[in-house]
Amino acid sequence: MANFLVQKSAPLYGEVEISGSKNAVLPIMAAALLAGGECEIIEVPKLKDVEVMSELLKSIGSSVTEDYDNNRIKISTPAGVSYEAPSDLVKKMRASILVMGPILAKTGFVRIPLPGGCAIGKRPINLHLKGLHALGAEIKEDSTCVEARGKLSGGNVYLDTPSVGATENIMMAATLAEGTSIIENAALEPEIVDLASFLNRMGAKIKGAGTDTIKIEGVKELTGCKHSVIPDRIETGTFMIAAAITRGNILLRNVLPDHVKPVIAKLRECGVVIEYNDESILVIGDAAELIPTDLKTLPYPGFPTDVQPQFMSLLATIKGPSVIIETVFENRFMHVHELNRMGADIRTEGNNAWLRGDKPLIGAKVVCTDLRAGAALVLAGLAAEGTTEISETYHIDRGYSNFIEKFNGIGAAIVRALD
Ligand code: UD1
Repeated sequence: MANFLVQKSAPLYGEVEISGSKNAVLPIMAAALLAGGECEIIEVPKLKDVEVMSELLKSIGSSVTEDYDNNRIKISTPAGVSYEAPSDLVKKMRASILVMGPILAKTGFVRIPLPGGCAIGKRPINLHLKGLHALGAEIKEDSTCVEARGKLSGGNVYLDTPSVGATENIMMAATLAEGTSIIENAALEPEIVDLASFLNRMGAKIKGAGTDTIKIEGVKELTGCKHSVIPDRIETGTFMIAAAITRGNILLRNVLPDHVKPVIAKLRECGVVIEYNDESILVIGDAAELIPTDLKTLPYPGFPTDVQPQFMSLLATIKGPSVIIETVFENRFMHVHELNRMGADIRTEGNNAWLRGDKPLIGAKVVCTDLRAGAALVLAGLAAEGTTEISETYHIDRGYSNFIEKFNGIGAAIVRALD
C-alpha cells in the first residue's frame, strides 16, 4: 500500500498544466456507449477512475483503445452490449452508475448493483431512478441491485435536488427516447455542459444545459465524434490553494477561470492576489498577510464541495476564526479529525465547522479518507512542520493526474513510499 511522505515546503513557485476534468470525462465515457460509431475523446486525464470506467465499458462490450500518454481514448460500442454492469467495478467507483441511462437507452434493459454509500455520505440514486421512470422505464430495486426496463419516451422530471449524476443519467437516456424530455431544477455544473456538447456532437438535440431547465428532443441514433474534455476545475482550485498555503506564486495553464469564480473570490477575501486571462491564472500567495474568511458549499455556481477540504487546510493555517458550512454532502468533514491530529483547531457540529488557525500545523501520521480529503492533507502537509505521512493515498490516484510530479515540479518534496 502506498503512502505519501510530505515535507514542509518553501513557497511553491512555477507553472502547472491542469489536466482534463475527471467529473467531465467519466460521464462522457459512459455516453460514448450510445454512439453507433467510434468516439475519440481527447484531454483525458490519467486517473484510476478513468481506468475503472474503461474496464467497465469493456466488460459491457465496448472496445476501448487507451493512449493515456497522449491523453486520448477511443471508444466504440457494438449494438448488442451486455445489460449488466459487474459489481466489482461498480463498487470500486460510484460514478459507474452513469452507465445506467446509456445502457437502458441502447438496449431497453439494464441491471446494475447498487453503488451504496461512501465516506462522504449515503449518496442515494433515487433521483436517477425518478428520472428514468419519468421516461417510461419500469424500475425494480432490491437491497443489492436495481433494474430498469422499457422503451423510453419523452417525459418531464423535476429534480428535488439539482443532482449532477441524476441530471447526466437522465440527459443521456433521453437522447434516444421517442419525443421530448425536460429536466427541471437540473444541475448547472460545467461538466453537464461538457456532456451536453459531447452528446450534441454525436447528433443529440439538447438545449439549455448549464441552466436549470434542460430540454432534450429524442433522436433515432447517435454517431461517433471527437471531443476535447474541459479542464479540471477541482484540480485548478487545489493548486490555487497550494500557492496560498505555501505563500508561493503559481501560474496555472489549461484553465477556465469562469469555472473557479467562487474559489477565486474566497481566496481574494483571504488576501491572495489572483490575476487571470482566458488561458491562465496567476495566484500570488506572498503579497500580504492572509486573513480568515467564512465559506459555505453549494451546488454550482456556489463554492464547490469538492474544494471544501482543501480550503479548510488553508484556513487552518490562517490566524483567526473562520466557519465552514457544508450543505451538499451530509458527512464531508472526515478530514477534520486528521487535520486536528496535525495540530489544527477545528470543531464540528453537524455540517458546521469552526476553525481557529492560531497554532502552527505539525507533521503527523494521517489517513486519507476520500479523494479530496487526501488532497487537503497533502496541502496541510506542505504547510506543517516536519514530515506528514499520509496513508490510503490510492484515493488521490483516483482523481488527480500526476499529482506528486506536478507538486514536485514547482518545488514541493513529496515522495511515494511503500508500507
Ligand atoms: C458529483 C461529482 C462529485 C461532487 C458532486 C457534487 C462526479 C463523478 N462526481 O457527484 O465529485 O462532489 O457531484 O458536486 O461528477 N442526491 C440525492 N439523490 C440522488 C442523487 C443525489 O439525494 O439520486 C443528493 C446526494 O446525496 C448529495 C446531493 O444530492 O447530497 C448532490 O449529489 P450529486 O450532485 O448527485 O453528486 P454526484 O453526481 O454523485
